[in-house]
Amino acid sequence: MRLIDENGLRIDGRKVDELRPIRIEAGVLKRADGSAYVEWGKNKVIAAVYGPRECHPRHLQDPSKALVQCRYNMIAFSVMERKRPGPDRRSVEISKIIAEALEYVIFTEYFPRTSIDVYIEILQANAGTRCAGLTAASVALADAGVPMKDLVPAVAVGKVDNQVVLDLTKEEDNHGQADLPMAIIPRTGEVLLMQMDGHMTVEEFNKAIDLGYKACEKIYQLQKDALRRRYAVEEIETFEEAQHPQTAMEE
Ligand code: CDP
Repeated sequence: MRLIDENGLRIDGRKVDELRPIRIEAGVLKRADGSAYVEWGKNKVIAAVYGPRECHPRHLQDPSKALVQCRYNMIAFSVMERKRPGPDRRSVEISKIIAEALEYVIFTEYFPRTSIDVYIEILQANAGTRCAGLTAASVALADAGVPMKDLVPAVAVGKVDNQVVLDLTKEEDNHGQADLPMAIIPRTGEVLLMQMDGHMTVEEFNKAIDLGYKACEKIYQLQKDALRRRYAVEEIETFEEAQHPQTAMEE
């Protein structure tokens, strides 16, 4: 199966160094302390955050810091073949790596004995869902007001038809030669998450990481824009309340 044509374009028309269209919204849920929705190509992901709140079961409490718990879940209709509900090996792994990445950026020492719970629901999947999930989760944490070193943008790079490509789709993931999800802390440039499935030469690896870094910077801007928009709406609401306090109370 040919994944890159003679003009260097991929099946969905993108160039090798092009991201899929990404849309991020912050604060999409009323009940959670923080939330975010991410559409990333054909991926649709929602993240919700509760906490810091009292940690249950109590024996998991850490007197020196908050516990960061994450549940990544694919819903039954998110993939081609109905996904059997409940955790499987893959979702347990992804939940673990996302929790570990987030724990590193959250100032957990500010909230001893508490738990910060992150829920990631994949509504529709088309490869790169762990990256979309982590990207959404960090926006949801910021929306919840959880103090963090930085937001966390994530993206997968890889190798397809002997070329290094950015942001693989499901077809490219299935038929490609390598898939390398990564996440960074933009402020420090630290790598927060890196996994690799497949093979690349050192040269290809360096090129892939470079592509990933540049893309993460773009995703970081989208994350910040989403939070700014969310904040701007709040400001307008407060202003309206100030102008029409009676109407605001009746509501
Ligand atoms: O989603 P991500 O690329 O982070 O993880 P993956 O394990 O590399 O899975 C790649 C893609 O395979 C997912 O995004 C889904 O589109 C698909 N998949 C599926 O169809 N059924 C599953 N049970 C798991 C994954």
